[in-house]
Amino acid sequence: MQILNNFENIVKIPSPLNYLGGKYRLLPQILPILPVTSRNFMDLFCGGCNVGINACAERIYFNDNNRFLIGLLRAFQQLEITKVLERISELIVQYGLSDSSRYGYEYYACNGSDGLTEFNKIPFLNMREDFNCIQKQDSEYFIRLYVLIVFAFNNQMRFNRHGKFNLPVGKRDFNIQMKSKLIEFMKRLQDGNYFFSYADFRDVDFSQYSEEDFVYVDPPYLITCATYNEQNGWNEKDEMDLLNFLNGLDRRGIRFALSNVLHSKGKENRILLDWIDKQQKYRIHFLDFHYANSNYQTKDKTRSSCEVLITNY
Ligand SMILES: C[S@@+](CC[C@H](N)C(=O)[O-])C[C@H]1O[C@@H](n2cnc3c(N)ncnc32)[C@H](O)[C@@H]1O
Repeated sequence: MQILNNFENIVKIPSPLNYLGGKYRLLPQILPILPVTSRNFMDLFCGGCNVGINACAERIYFNDNNRFLIGLLRAFQQLEITKVLERISELIVQYGLSDSSRYGYEYYACNGSDGLTEFNKIPFLNMREDFNCIQKQDSEYFIRLYVLIVFAFNNQMRFNRHGKFNLPVGKRDFNIQMKSKLIEFMKRLQDGNYFFSYADFRDVDFSQYSEEDFVYVDPPYLITCATYNEQNGWNEKDEMDLLNFLNGLDRRGIRFALSNVLHSKGKENRILLDWIDKQQKYRIHFLDFHYANSNYQTKDKTRSSCEVLITNY
């Protein structure tokens, strides 16, 4: 489904990376709260880039501390689309992976719940093994990484401490929707003013930022789980550093919007709630349908998660 931005009538596109915590589905609620336009727009924890790629600004910056992700996104920006598609097709043939867009699902006799898992298991392991032996991170490396993600469990990306891709095979393949998401995303990146950086959020340089700029912040959530939270990926110190960093932006008049959850599955993010209480001046926009136009205190906190966008404007 394509979403139109009310302000600009730009077609909203999803990321080709099925990112956990990706904000594509929440865009109809998030975008109307963001500035209609800005000079620099920083998507500080960009992940799949769902927000920045659909934002309106003179220059859009994407930052993340995952070097594989930033390498892949840079490859999407720099490589020729037709060459990437050709190479993906060659790899699918080379490893004997399924190609449902060409032969249909019936051809692979796959059942609904397991999808293409059985068929792709061995070809996927062979491809993963070859990938994990590659030393040089060039365009071939990143095309192979993308194909691994497409065929991996839940279309995710995960590396172990030694930099080896370690997810098992998934249910899907490079189907028509995946292909069109990749093409649209690459076209958008190649046509606009997009820049990438790979850094911890504390090391990103905001010295040139002022009131005309905007920072969108979608960190790992302290009280939920995702692959990027594993191995102590996001802890209470990170959370507090981030909130202090946001106060610093606010003191300089730089607008920000922070995505987060106030509670999830019975857990509360006390650090975040205390920060909101203490600051008093930030606005909380409730994004979860059940919480729209309602007061957080009056709702059943165990029911689901409470998605919010916190802004300083
Ligand atoms: C919730 S995801 C962002 C999802 C994204 N907004 C989207 O719509 O696809 C959070 C991202 O923060 C990144 N991250 C985690 N710790 C970080 C840090 N200290 N500095 C910068 N990025 C970090 C993770 O790699 C992950 O990609």
